[in-house]
Amino acid sequence: MGFILAASGSAVGLGNVWKFPYIVGENGGGAFVLIYLVCIFVIGTPVMLAEFTLGRKTNRNPVGAFEQLRPKSPWIGIGYMGVLGGFLILSFYGVVGGWTFAYVVKSITGSVLAFPHSKEPGEFFASFIGNSWEVLFYHALFMGTCIAIVLRGVHGGIEKACNILMPTLVIILVLLMIRSLTLDGAMEGVAFYLTPDFSKITGSVVLIALGHAFFSLSLGMGAMITYGSYLSEKENLASSTAYVVMLDTLIALLVGMVIFPAVFAMGLEPAEGPGLVFSVLPTVFASIPLGHGVAVIFFVLLAIAAVTSGISLLEVVVAYFIDQRGWQRKRAVLIAGLTTFAFGIPSGLSFGVMADVKFLGMTFFDNIDSIASHYLLPLGGMLTAIFVGWVWGTKNVHIEIEKHNNKFGFPWAQSWDFLIRYITPVAVGIVFIATVFY
Ligand code: TRP
Repeated sequence: MGFILAASGSAVGLGNVWKFPYIVGENGGGAFVLIYLVCIFVIGTPVMLAEFTLGRKTNRNPVGAFEQLRPKSPWIGIGYMGVLGGFLILSFYGVVGGWTFAYVVKSITGSVLAFPHSKEPGEFFASFIGNSWEVLFYHALFMGTCIAIVLRGVHGGIEKACNILMPTLVIILVLLMIRSLTLDGAMEGVAFYLTPDFSKITGSVVLIALGHAFFSLSLGMGAMITYGSYLSEKENLASSTAYVVMLDTLIALLVGMVIFPAVFAMGLEPAEGPGLVFSVLPTVFASIPLGHGVAVIFFVLLAIAAVTSGISLLEVVVAYFIDQRGWQRKRAVLIAGLTTFAFGIPSGLSFGVMADVKFLGMTFFDNIDSIASHYLLPLGGMLTAIFVGWVWGTKNVHIEIEKHNNKFGFPWAQSWDFLIRYITPVAVGIVFIATVFY
C-alpha cells in the first residue's frame, strides 16, 4: 500500500482539483472530458507502467535509468528533458501551491467565506492574486515546505500522510458533490460536464487533453521512474498502475461534479480560467452546515496534496544532481529549490504587475505551463514508449513485472505491448501534427 499511496500522492494534486475543472470549462465541457478519459486509459496508463518498470529495473533517476539501459545513447536525452520539465512545472506549480496555502489561512480567518453574493469570491480571488507581495510570500512558503521535506528524503513521512489524506479528500468531495447537485439550476452544469459537444474540439483542444492526461498522472518526465526506483520486487507493478490511475481519475471526475453544477447554479462563467475553483468553492462552503470547518479541512487537504506532488517534481531534479553529478543532498535540494522558486517569480506576478507582459498572446505563467504540459510531457511520454516498446523491448518489461511470482499474462500483457509500441507513439504524433493544421 505504501508505494501506491506515495505514487498517488504525486499524481493527485492541483492537476485534479485546480487545473482539470478550469481547462474543462475553457474547452467546452463533456467532449473534452471524454477525450481526456481516452488519453488516460489508452496512452497514460501504458506509459505509467513503462515508467514504473524502468524505475524499478534500473533503480536510478531518469537520466541514470536510460543511461544504464543504453549507455552513451541519445535516449539519455529523455532523462534530461524530464529534469528540465520538472523544473519548469514546479516553477508555476509552486505559485498555485502558494495560492492554496493562502486559502488555508483565509478560510481559517473566514475572509473567503464572508460573501453574500456569488460573484464576490471571484473578485476577492482576483484581487488576491494581483497582490505581488502576498502571492510571492505564499509561493516562498510553499517552496520552502517542499524543500524542507525533500531535504530529509522522500521516504517515510509522505506515505503515512497520504494514508489519511486520500480517503478524507474523497469523502469531502462526495459531500460537496451532493451539495452542488442539489443547488437550484445544477442540472445545467451536469449537462455541460457530461454531454459531449464535439463542435468545440480542435487539434489544440485534443493536445490540451492529452497533455493534461500526462500532467495529472505525473507522466512524461520521469517522476514515476524516480518513484518506481524506490519500489521492492514484491510489489505488483501492473496492479499498482491500475490503482493510481483509478484514484487519480476518480478524484478529477468528482471535482468536476462539484464545480460545474455550482458554476451554473450560481450564474458564473465556466471558462473563467485559472481562478475557477477559487471563485466557485467558497459559495458552496458558505451554503452548507459547518461550512467554515469544511472549508478549512478542504483547503488543508488541497495544500497537502499540492505539497506531495510538488516534492515529486523537486525530487526528480534533486535525484539527478545527487546521482549523476555527485552532489550532496543538501546542496542539490537548496540549489534546485531556490532556483526553481526564483524562476517561478514571473509566473507569480503574471496575474498582477506582469499581466500585460505577453509573448505569443500568453502570460509568462501560461507560456511555461504550455511548454511543459503541451509539449515536453507528451513528447517525453512518446519517446519513453518508443524506448520501452522498441529499444529496450517489451520482453524485458514482462520479466521485470513478473518478478516474485507476479502475473502479467493474457490479455493484459498483449494489450499493453500493442498500446505502448503502436498506439502511444502514433497517437501522440498525430495529435502533434493535428495541432499544427487544425
Ligand atoms: N500530477 C500532479 C498533479 O496533478 C502534478 C505533478 C507532480 C506532475 N509530478 C509531476 C506533473 C510530474 C507532471 C509530471 O497535480
